[in-house]
Amino acid sequence: MHGPCSHQRAVTEAVENTSEYLKQIINSVADPLFVKDRKHRWILLNQAFCDFMGHPSSKLIGKSDYDFFPKKEADVFWQKDEEVFQTGQENVNEEFFTDGTGSRRVIITKKTIYTGPSGEQCIVGIIRDMTDIKRTTEELRSAYEKLVALQSRLIQSEKMASLGQLAAGIAHEINNPTAYIISNLDMFQEYQSQVQKCFRIVAPYLSTIKELPQDQSKKLGEIMEDLPVLICETAQGAQRIKKIVQDLKVFAHPTEGTLEYGDLHACIDRAIDIMAGELKYKIKLVREYGHLPLVCFREQQMLQVFMNLLSNAAQAIETNGTIKIKTWPHGKEVHIEISDNGQGIAPDVISKIFDPFFTTKSVGQGTGLGLSVVHGIITKHQGTINAVSQVGEGAVFHIKLLRDGPGGSGVKKEQA
Ligand SMILES: Nc1ncnc2c1ncn2[C@@H]1O[C@H](COP(=O)(O)OP(=O)(O)OP(=O)(O)O)[C@@H](O)[C@H]1O
Ligand SMILES: [Mg+2]
Repeated sequence: MHGPCSHQRAVTEAVENTSEYLKQIINSVADPLFVKDRKHRWILLNQAFCDFMGHPSSKLIGKSDYDFFPKKEADVFWQKDEEVFQTGQENVNEEFFTDGTGSRRVIITKKTIYTGPSGEQCIVGIIRDMTDIKRTTEELRSAYEKLVALQSRLIQSEKMASLGQLAAGIAHEINNPTAYIISNLDMFQEYQSQVQKCFRIVAPYLSTIKELPQDQSKKLGEIMEDLPVLICETAQGAQRIKKIVQDLKVFAHPTEGTLEYGDLHACIDRAIDIMAGELKYKIKLVREYGHLPLVCFREQQMLQVFMNLLSNAAQAIETNGTIKIKTWPHGKEVHIEISDNGQGIAPDVISKIFDPFFTTKSVGQGTGLGLSVVHGIITKHQGTINAVSQVGEGAVFHIKLLRDGPGGSGVKKEQA
C-alpha cells in the first residue's frame, strides 16, 4: 500500500528523473543547442554549445551574445532573434562569428519560438557549424576549377600536337624545293654576273647588228639592268621561306637536338652575328652579361630563340633604338632578359603573342610563328618565358632556364 506521501515522492522522483533524462538527451545532441528568453539571455544550453563557445554553462547562463561576440556580430544575432520573436516564424540563417580562439567560423542557426505554459516566449536554436563543410566546398570548387583549366590546357596541347604534325608535314614538303631554289639562285646570280660582263662588252655593237631591231636592243639593256634586282628580291623571298620552314620545323619538334652544357653567352653572340644584317643600321646593342655558369641546353634550338626575339625587337623599333640583353645567375637558375625600346605591345594583344600564327604584322611580314617557337623551346627546357610591355616604351622578354637543364639532373649528354 502506498500513502499520499509516497505517491508525491514518486511523482517528484518521476519529474526529477524526466528532467534529468531530458537534460541528458539535450546534452547528447551533437549540434550546439540553446534556449534564450525574451531578453535574449541564454537560459538553457547543451554541452555541445558550451564546447562550441569554449566556456562552461555556469559562465554562459544569464548572459547574451553581447557578452561574448564583437558588437557587429551580436547585433546580427539580436536582430535575427527579434524577427523570430515578432513573427513567430522559424528562421534559418547563415552567420559568421568569431570563436573563442579568434577564428572566424561559418554557422547555420535554425531558430524556432517556444511559448511556455505561462505564456513566456523563448527561442530554441540549433547551430550547425559549416566552417569545415564550407572549407571543403571551397577546396572542391578550386580543385574543380583547376581540373577545368587543366582540361582546357590538355585540349590546347592536343590541338598543338595536331598543328605540330601539320606544320612538320608542310615544312618537310617545302624544305626540299626551297633548298634547290636557294642553291639555283646562287648559281643564277653567278651566271647573271658573267652574262652581265659579256653584255657590257657587246652592248656598244648591238646597234650594228642588222637583224636586231633598235627597240629590241634597248629592251635588252633594260632587262640586263633589272635582272640583278629581280634575282636579289627573289633570293630574299626564298630566304624568308627558309626561315618559315625552319620555324615550322622547330615548332613541330621543339626537343630536337642534343642537350649539352654550353656557354649561353656564346649562343646569344652567335644569334647577334646571324641577325647583324637586321640589326646594324638602326639598333644599338647593349650587352649586360652576368657571370653565368655553363648551362645545359639545346644549342640550335636556343639559337633560334634568341634570333626570333632579336628579330621581333628589331622589327618593333621603327627608326633608332636600343636592344638590351641582360643575363644573371640565381641559384640553380639562369635568367636572360631581352628588352627593346620599340613600339611595345598593346594590352589586349599581349596574352596572345605566344599563340602560333598570331601576328600583328602585315601579310609577308610575319607568320606569327616566332614566339610560339620560342615558347615551345623554352618550355621543353622546363624554363619559363614571359613578356611585359608598355605601349610606346618597348617590351621586355624574360627567360628563366634551369642551369642543369630539363629535370635539373645535369645529364652531361642526352640525345632527345
Ligand atoms: N619586341 C616586341 N615588341 C613589340 N611587339 C612584339 C615584340 N615581340 C613580339 N611582338 C608582337 O607579337 C607578335 C607575335 O610575334 P611572333 O614573333 O610570334 O610573330 P611575328 O613576329 O609577327 O611573325 P614571325 O616571327 O613568324 O615572322 C608580333 O606580331 C608582334 O605584334
Ligand atoms: Mg617574330
